[in-house]
Amino acid sequence: MNNNHCIDAATQLWTRCTDLGLRSWLLDSTGALMRRPQDPSNPSEDDQLPPLAREAVRRKAAGADMQPIFVDGVALIPCVVGDRVLISCAAGTNDAPLDGLRTVILGMRDDLQSREESRVLLKDFSGKLIQSYEETYTLFRVMRLLASSAAPLQQINTVCRSVQQTLPFRWVSVCFRDDPRVVEDLRGAMSSAGAAPTPADEFERLVRTMTAETEADGWTRVLAPADHALAVIAGAELVCDPITYDGSVIGLIVAGNKTGTDREIGSPEMQFIDALADFLGTFHENIARLTEQRAMSMETLQALVAAIDAKDRYTCGHSDRVAFLAKAIAAEMGMCAEVVERIGIAGLVHDIGKIGVPESILCKPGKLTDDEFAAIKRHPEIGYGIIKAIRLLEDTLPGVLHHHERWDGRGYPHGLRGENIPQMARIIGLADTFDAMSSSRSYRPALPRPLVLAEIERCSGIQFDPAIVDAFSRVNLAGYDALLNQHATGEQPALRAAA
Ligand SMILES: [Fe+2]
Repeated sequence: MNNNHCIDAATQLWTRCTDLGLRSWLLDSTGALMRRPQDPSNPSEDDQLPPLAREAVRRKAAGADMQPIFVDGVALIPCVVGDRVLISCAAGTNDAPLDGLRTVILGMRDDLQSREESRVLLKDFSGKLIQSYEETYTLFRVMRLLASSAAPLQQINTVCRSVQQTLPFRWVSVCFRDDPRVVEDLRGAMSSAGAAPTPADEFERLVRTMTAETEADGWTRVLAPADHALAVIAGAELVCDPITYDGSVIGLIVAGNKTGTDREIGSPEMQFIDALADFLGTFHENIARLTEQRAMSMETLQALVAAIDAKDRYTCGHSDRVAFLAKAIAAEMGMCAEVVERIGIAGLVHDIGKIGVPESILCKPGKLTDDEFAAIKRHPEIGYGIIKAIRLLEDTLPGVLHHHERWDGRGYPHGLRGENIPQMARIIGLADTFDAMSSSRSYRPALPRPLVLAEIERCSGIQFDPAIVDAFSRVNLAGYDALLNQHATGEQPALRAAA
């Protein structure tokens, strides 16, 4: 038990002895008087102690704990508590009557020291438990953060901040290699939180170099200034751990300048950093798989769209252009990039149900009969049935099913009105109509642009949501016209441009 803890035990022992009626003095390690007997009726008596106290302290140094000192017919019993000495005064000139008193004092001292030790142990344990809980909770939070739908680098930034606030480090950095094995969103990215060492450019250079040079042995390392230049500019130890993917190092997590009373990086911090590096490796793997899945689903989409376009040479590229316009309108309305992308994909597949409509009807040059028109009107529901089975596209379903609804409720298949029509479908509906009028069809040539724009404006609040007409009026149609020309000349633009 350290001396600070003994201070409390010594003071408490003095209080107990005083409560028992024992005249007691408490001295510090130099023999200076800290507490004197509480005897207001005879205050001058207290001054008799100092010479004797010094003698007691001298004896204590010689290992005479609890050995009485006889002075002028009284026994003074020194009791050592840490670096302090409690001196209790008892009458008598030989050891025998003092044994009982010594036993009582010793019992109290052991009891108090034991309690104090328990209290300190409990406090230490509580502190470690709280720290451990905070670290575990942070890891849990990191897992949740990494499962969010935010952009990967944004997620890494949030993780860095969260970890730096929990771990006793002045700074935490995560760096990814500029390597084709790293997913595009994180390739060469570096994120830091806290007060990183300066100069900043030198710090970044050293972290990047360390990331590039770290080997895939999976070890968590603690580096001192003697080991690495980064620890030199930090002026303290740092801990680092590689982030791996498919057995290769793709990045590094590094933290340094441990704060608090114990500046030495120990096992708990190393274990935390190790667990975090594992999480980040898994996070990267998930993104890589998701990217792969997206690429595969885009290829599937490409095949689906090609199948629709193949049914009617007049509508060639229609899906691409509707996707392009729907995205432009959504962006103009201030929607976030992710929603804009999903609306674009919905635009791409909005007419997928036409696969189920006979080509003889789709390509018929003349007027449709009622039955033929009824067959065409089934395509939103046919499309809904097709897309419903594709989990990756399920959020495009409202756009597929309702893109022929009208603001005035006279559309199909459900005759929805106004804002009851999903916004995605309202946007695609306008883009669909604009493109239908702007391109040649089997039954008529393309209409002039001023006429098309006037018709869209005229139908605001009738067929179209006025807010979407408003957003559409601000869209720059140069990109759309370029697509229209590409399709007219038979070029196939990259699908990515539309999706
Ligand atoms: Fe349609």
